[in-house]
Amino acid sequence: MQQHNPIQIHVEDTNAEATMAKISAIKHKYFQDEFSEEFVKGTSKKDVLIHRGYWCRFNIFHRIVSTYISKQQKCNVISLGSGYDTLPYIMWQTYQNKEFTFVEVDLPVVVDRKIKKLKESNKLKTLLGEYIISQNKLSAKSENKNYLLFGEDLCNTEQLHQSLQSLDFTIPTLVYAECVLTYIKSEATTRLLDGLTKWFPHLTFLNYEMFNPSDQFGKMMVRNFEYRGCPLVGIDAFPSLQAHKDRLNQWFNYVEIYDMKTLYQIATDPEERKRIEKLELMDEWEEWNIMQSHYLVSLANKDQTELIVNLKV
Ligand SMILES: C[S@@+](CC[C@H](N)C(=O)[O-])C[C@H]1O[C@@H](n2cnc3c(N)ncnc32)[C@H](O)[C@@H]1O
Repeated sequence: MQQHNPIQIHVEDTNAEATMAKISAIKHKYFQDEFSEEFVKGTSKKDVLIHRGYWCRFNIFHRIVSTYISKQQKCNVISLGSGYDTLPYIMWQTYQNKEFTFVEVDLPVVVDRKIKKLKESNKLKTLLGEYIISQNKLSAKSENKNYLLFGEDLCNTEQLHQSLQSLDFTIPTLVYAECVLTYIKSEATTRLLDGLTKWFPHLTFLNYEMFNPSDQFGKMMVRNFEYRGCPLVGIDAFPSLQAHKDRLNQWFNYVEIYDMKTLYQIATDPEERKRIEKLELMDEWEEWNIMQSHYLVSLANKDQTELIVNLKV
C-alpha cells in the first residue's frame, strides 16, 4: 500500500498553522480579532474541537494580559515565541491611555516575515504610527506605548538579555509563552526562566503548552509532531502538572496550574460559554476531554503579594 507523507512543518511554521486555526474560530464567531487576517489569509474551516479549544486559549490569554495592563500604572508585557500574535495590537487599541511596553520575540526568520506583513498592512501601520526597522528589529513609540519586535533564539539567553536592554526592568512585567516551550529543550527553558526571574524583580509568568506524553493519546501526539518535523523536545522532562508546578516553584512562590479541560469550566465566563456552545454542535465529548487534558496553562508570580490576576474567574 502506498504510504502518504505527512505535510511537513518546521517549528518556524507552527505559528502560521496556529493563526489559521484562530482565524477559523474567529470566522465562526467564537471571538473577535480584526488583526489575525493581516498575517494569514484564506483558511479552511477547522473542527469544532479546535474552535472551542482556541476560544478557551484566546479567552484566557486575552483576559490575563488585559487585566494585567489595566491594573498597572506602567508595565512591560513580553510575548516569547510570539509568532503572529495579535495581542499587542488589540491591547494598543483597547488601552489608549495606559502606559506599557509590549515586546515580541521569535526566531529571526519568523520575525522577518512578521515585519514584512506589518509593512504591507495599512491597518497595522496606522495603529503602529512611526516605527523604525533596523536589522531584525522593529520598534515603535507613541506617547504612552512602546513596541519592540525582534528576532532571537530563546535558547540564547544572554543575547535575549542584551536585546531587552531598552526596557525598564524595575517595573511590573508579565512574560508569556503561548504554545512555545514544548518546542525547546528543557535545559534551555531552565536557563531562560533563570534569566527572566533574575532580570525582572516583579515578574508574572504565563505559559500554555502540551504535556502528559505517556498515555495513549500523549504518545500519539508526540509521534505526530515528530513525524511532521516539529518534535516536542521539551515535553518529556516535565510530563505532569505536578512536575511543571514543582519546576516553577523553584523561582516563583505562587503557582497556579490546570489542564485545559478544567480551565474550560473554571477560567471562562459561563454566559460566554453558553453562547459559543450554541454555535456548533459537538458530540465528541470524550475526544474533547482526552485532548484538552494534554494542554496546560500555568500562571506564576515571583511574589504572591503582588498577584493581580488569577487563572480562575
Ligand atoms: C505554535 S507557534 C505559537 C505562536 C504564538 N505564540 C501563538 O500562540 O499563536 C510556536 C512559536 O514558537 C516559536 N519558537 C519555537 N522555538 C523557538 C526558539 N528557540 N526561539 C524563539 N522562538 C521559538 C516558533 O517560531 C513559533 O512562532
